[in-house]
Amino acid sequence: RLREEVQSQSAPSPLRKFRVGKLQISALFDRLRTLLSDCSAFLAATHIEADDFMKEQKEIGVFSSQVSSISKLFERDHMKVVFVGQTSNGKSTVVNAMLYNRILPSGIGHTTNCFVSVSGSDANTPYIIDSLSSEQQPISNVLQLANALHPEGSLNQSGLIRVFWPTTKCRLLGDDVDLIDSPGLDLSNDINQWIDDYCMDADVFVLVANAEATLKVAERAFFFKVNEKLSKPNVFILNNRWDASDNEIDDSPERVREQHLEYASKFLADELKVVSRSKILDRVFFVSARETLLYRTTENWTRFKESQAVRDRYDEFRRFEQAFERTICKSAMKTKFEHRIVRGLDIAYSLAEIAGKAETLSKEQISGRIKEINERKENAARIRQLGERSLKCCSALVDRLAATSRASVARAMNE
Ligand code: GTP
Ligand code: MG
Repeated sequence: RLREEVQSQSAPSPLRKFRVGKLQISALFDRLRTLLSDCSAFLAATHIEADDFMKEQKEIGVFSSQVSSISKLFERDHMKVVFVGQTSNGKSTVVNAMLYNRILPSGIGHTTNCFVSVSGSDANTPYIIDSLSSEQQPISNVLQLANALHPEGSLNQSGLIRVFWPTTKCRLLGDDVDLIDSPGLDLSNDINQWIDDYCMDADVFVLVANAEATLKVAERAFFFKVNEKLSKPNVFILNNRWDASDNEIDDSPERVREQHLEYASKFLADELKVVSRSKILDRVFFVSARETLLYRTTENWTRFKESQAVRDRYDEFRRFEQAFERTICKSAMKTKFEHRIVRGLDIAYSLAEIAGKAETLSKEQISGRIKEINERKENAARIRQLGERSLKCCSALVDRLAATSRASVARAMNE
């Protein structure tokens, strides 16, 4: 089953749409850039002395630099998901489970001390860059990364460590998804700053909650703030540690699940208004990140075979991943591409107008030249006619003169 799942990782996923869209739109912008420079060259070649196109040439210059800046954005475009929640709720474990790798350190107690982004890299070996040194440092294991994230380290909570992991090892990273892990929300003194620094361009937020408790004040406060700053953020709630429900003796898991669902509906649908109540099951999931990670990284993990409950939780994690992929891709395409496409269209329309004006002017110029040539031809014909007529007059005159002089000579001879 896992083999099939891993194999399907190389099959097209909804996330692939983002990459394909990015390549296609970026190719259109390349074409637009070529058209702009062709148009500029045409204007320069055909209307060297005309002032008519000074304004348009300037406009084309501005359009070209805008198109170049937009093209550069495509190179850097990634989809971004931010994981938040109280300390020890399992944020880093969820990230590792989604990446099928133990990349981030996790453990009991306070583990993640600053923001950590995980991105794909074409290099064969992983490395990190921290916001203090900005230097690339190789990293061989989780322990080494744990030291970099250690509370006694020089980075504070609002610092950032960027982990670059070979894309060949994780499909999500190869599909241009950046995953941002954060320190526990309960530790933050300045949620505002966190949001401004790391969340303003997030496509999706995953609130990793503890299924053994209800949402905490800090978790709710964070999303109220996010909702103020971003319009309709995409929020998923993972009720993590759902494996604890196996050991529940006095309470039925179904009743607890209903309770959590009602609470989540009230929060996401009624208070934040980021999703309708009818769609709540696409946004709230009951999972065990620990089990998912174990299953994905431990060969022949027997508990998976033995327990139906474990398999159900695993399927729920997969359902979360599928909903997440659909949402992040849709959101990223809209937020990142939409306004650029509109700008590109505006430029294309303006270019079409300039080209139209140039074409009309060229036609006028051509017809002007044709008229000039025709006039010259007519003049030449008239001159030729005049010449011919003058020639005739001259020869008649010469004949008459000759006759007169002959007559005069004869007369003189007679006399
Ligand atoms: P901080 O970085 O300290 O904020 O914690 P975190 O939210 O990143 O939690 P982390 O992933 O480090 O997990 C904390 C502990 O909870 C680890 O010992 C995990 O193995 C454990 N844990 C994570 N997910 C689950 C789960 O679904 N079930 C159970 N039983 N334990 C889990
Ligand atoms: Mg952590």
